[in-house]
Amino acid sequence: TDLELTGHAHYMYKEILEQPERAAAVIRGRLDARFATARLNGLNLSPRELRAFRRVKFLGCGSAYYVGQIGAQLIEDLARIPADAEPASEFRYRNPIIEPDTLYVVVSQSGETADTAFAVQEIKRKGGTVIGAVNVVGSTIAREVDGGIYLHAGPEIAVASTKALTNMAMAFGMFALHLGRLHDLSYADGERISNALKAIPEQIQEILDSEPAIAAIAQRVAKAENAFFIGRVRQYPVAREGAQKLKEISYVHAEAYPTSELKHGPLALIDPAMLTVAVVPDDELASRNIAAVEQVRARGGEVVAITHEAVEFGTMAIERIVVPKTEPELDPILLIIPTQLLAYHAALVLGHDVDKPRNLAKSVTVE
Ligand code: G6P
Repeated sequence: TDLELTGHAHYMYKEILEQPERAAAVIRGRLDARFATARLNGLNLSPRELRAFRRVKFLGCGSAYYVGQIGAQLIEDLARIPADAEPASEFRYRNPIIEPDTLYVVVSQSGETADTAFAVQEIKRKGGTVIGAVNVVGSTIAREVDGGIYLHAGPEIAVASTKALTNMAMAFGMFALHLGRLHDLSYADGERISNALKAIPEQIQEILDSEPAIAAIAQRVAKAENAFFIGRVRQYPVAREGAQKLKEISYVHAEAYPTSELKHGPLALIDPAMLTVAVVPDDELASRNIAAVEQVRARGGEVVAITHEAVEFGTMAIERIVVPKTEPELDPILLIIPTQLLAYHAALVLGHDVDKPRNLAKSVTVE
């Protein structure tokens, strides 16, 4: 059953491998080919109500917050509505202004995170509309929100979240598609996104098939004392999540920076002992990202690039992890996958308890 290890050494590994199947489950029956949109019946909001929102705000803790950032970018890309993400833990304490024309989206695997549940109550108390992206059916948050999208990732046991995060990002792809089609996203662009979402489960499998190459690079990651994860715009949350995973289970000190911010501080720390994991997709910002990698190399820093086949690094001596390309808006979903395997294999090399990292809980239900 879902709760058994079925022969795998760790739940985290089992859950990583389940992703193609679980990512297929979250889109099943929800993509509408006729109208090139997504059908999300659990939202409990009519097209008219949805169209009236002028802003979307994502709230979550830890990795759920980072995926909220991916969601916000998807909303801005596809629906052209201002959107952002904030840690629910910060939001709840700062007397937030709740606006009637903002749609709040809380993001939680467990549906039990105390800070996120409190944010829901605060929004509702002030008359706001809040929907959830939740994995556990019938959980506290799922019961309290006005509507939402269930993630269908199945039970997640490992403290380090993998398949639930992937399904959050898939759900936000569908949600942004739906919202986009209520606004100005064309039929053709709707089809482009819808078809790309359908292909993602198989593309995740392709990445998982390249595990031996990623595991080899993880040997090097495990030797690092410090690492930077850098990514630009859509890929900044990927860098944040990658750094978080590495910290959580391998205890290698890792920090994420927007690639564009490298020259505003972190470059001072680059030397041969500093490892940089750079997320460099084949998109309109590729040449700028390649230039940043050059800057790191010029200072003797080692680089692992998570990238696409078409990106050319010339003669630069770097390690490359190549992932399949999807549509640019959806690239983060696939670029995140290798960071799971990097963290997992680095933790294995270092002999840590992958499923139960020290000092951390799967679900933080207390203050
Ligand atoms: C804890 C876990 C994280 C998780 C966060 C939010 O801090 O260690 O992995 O991202 O809670 O959990 P949730 O269940 O709300 O997604």
